[in-house]
Amino acid sequence: MHVGIIMDGNGRWATSRGLARLVGHKRGAGRVKDIVKNSPQLGVTTLTLYAFSTENWKRAAHEVEGLMKLFRGYMQNNLLELHEKNVRVRFLGDASALAQDIRSQMEHLADLTKDNSGLNLNIAINYGGRDEIVRATRSIASKVLDGTLSLDDISEDTICGHLDTREQADPDLIIRTAGELRLSNFMTWQSAYSEFMFPNVSWPDFTFEVYQKCLGEFTGRVRQYGAIDSK
Ligand code: FPP
Repeated sequence: MHVGIIMDGNGRWATSRGLARLVGHKRGAGRVKDIVKNSPQLGVTTLTLYAFSTENWKRAAHEVEGLMKLFRGYMQNNLLELHEKNVRVRFLGDASALAQDIRSQMEHLADLTKDNSGLNLNIAINYGGRDEIVRATRSIASKVLDGTLSLDDISEDTICGHLDTREQADPDLIIRTAGELRLSNFMTWQSAYSEFMFPNVSWPDFTFEVYQKCLGEFTGRVRQYGAIDSK
């Protein structure tokens, strides 16, 4: 089962307590650690976390820098534990806009864990669903141009195979915390048949119990992928 999470509400969690927004993000990073650790026992085989969108660059420079610092810290502090726990880490998004040291850390973590067979963890950084489709289209078009792919052979599978999530199943469930009812450019292609859940808690308050409750509710949903119930 693949779960995608839009980790929203860090800023509101902090400001409503009179704290700086970055304190909320820091708390959020703590939640990431806990939710990653507890995913396998809940039957989650792939977890995709939306950490930074292509639109998040519009935030104040100190907030962007603070988030980048958190990503660095997370990768540094959790590298060995993730590897020991058999987690395979991959990154979604356009890494080319990120600082070189962060890119090196990302490459190192992905490379170190590439043969792990436990939880698949995707971290989306500088990720946008539309941007991902644009990049996939460019790479498909270049194959058509150089003659390695024919126009008639372009199918849904071709597009899937050129997205950042290539070789991975689509998300079964997408959870967005903090009450907003939108996708905000998250897994635009892959979410075609996903179920959605919008728990009314901020990401820093997304505990194991809330996670477990969401997954319990998901199990009760009937998914027919456009077909009708034949019973
Ligand atoms: C959205 O809340 C959250 C983000 C843009 C950042 C998510 C990042 C983390 C949880 C930090 C650590 C992540 C990893 C992978 C180590 P918001 O700031 O938009 O909240 P608001 O809507 O209340 O302002």
